Amino acid sequence: MISGAPASGKGTQCELIKKKYDLVHVAAGDLLRAEISSGSDNGKRAKEYMDIGQLVPDEIVVMMVKERLMQPDSQDKGWLLDGYPRSLSQATKLQGYGFHPELFILLEVPEEILVERVVGRRLDPVTGKIYHLKYSPPETEEIAARLTQRFDDTEEKVKLRLHTHHQNVASVLAMFEDTIIKVDGSVSKEAVFAQIDSALTKLLEQRAEKIGSAIA
Ligand code: AP5
Repeated sequence: MISGAPASGKGTQCELIKKKYDLVHVAAGDLLRAEISSGSDNGKRAKEYMDIGQLVPDEIVVMMVKERLMQPDSQDKGWLLDGYPRSLSQATKLQGYGFHPELFILLEVPEEILVERVVGRRLDPVTGKIYHLKYSPPETEEIAARLTQRFDDTEEKVKLRLHTHHQNVASVLAMFEDTIIKVDGSVSKEAVFAQIDSALTKLLEQRAEKIGSAIA
């Protein structure tokens, strides 16, 4: 699981983790945006909450995430859950369904950096890749011309999302105390990934050791 304030770099790190570890990236925000694009009733309702930076109600989000985690690819390869759970009730339900993370990555970024990251963020609708006009500019003019901006990526809306984050984060962290690693998310994306990569490598080594001693 990966958690952190809005624009702390969750999606960016998930791209890098997925590439190296071949996990299935399940992002609650992306699932909700897909629902909005489909024009469904759930999507319309979800957008009302996303517009004001509040959590979308559990009856929409919980089943959506659970179903994605239960799909064969997530079960076979393992999952990387991004932006979920975001409240005590979501965390409790997830554990009740039997989904337990081996590692809970918490990205820590000072608030003054977050607003700049949000307003400069752009997305490539073709590849899904996340860019930043200053920190991760597009590689070609062709990509630059097609980049889009999220409807909630304004200074005003990120402040609302931050407020919601502060209201809920402590109760979620308390549920995953035993598996949390805190990562400095304020450095370059490569330096952030190096910290995560080292924790994941250690985890895999510990897992291999356990399997080895069970066989012996
Ligand atoms: P969601 O889409 O999850 O948004 P968020 O949590 O606000 O996080 P972001 O996607 O904005 O940021 P990120 O941390 O992924 O950062 P990124 O890597 O893109 O949720 C949106 C809404 O959906 C919520 O407000 C809520 O309404 C609803 N929702 C979602 N989950 C829900 C749930 N569980 N329950 C109920 N409702 C839910 O990076 C940001 C920018 O910074 C990019 O431009 C990137 O290039 C740049 N960047 C990244 N890392 C670095 C770095 N190290 N240095 C410099 N720049 C960097």
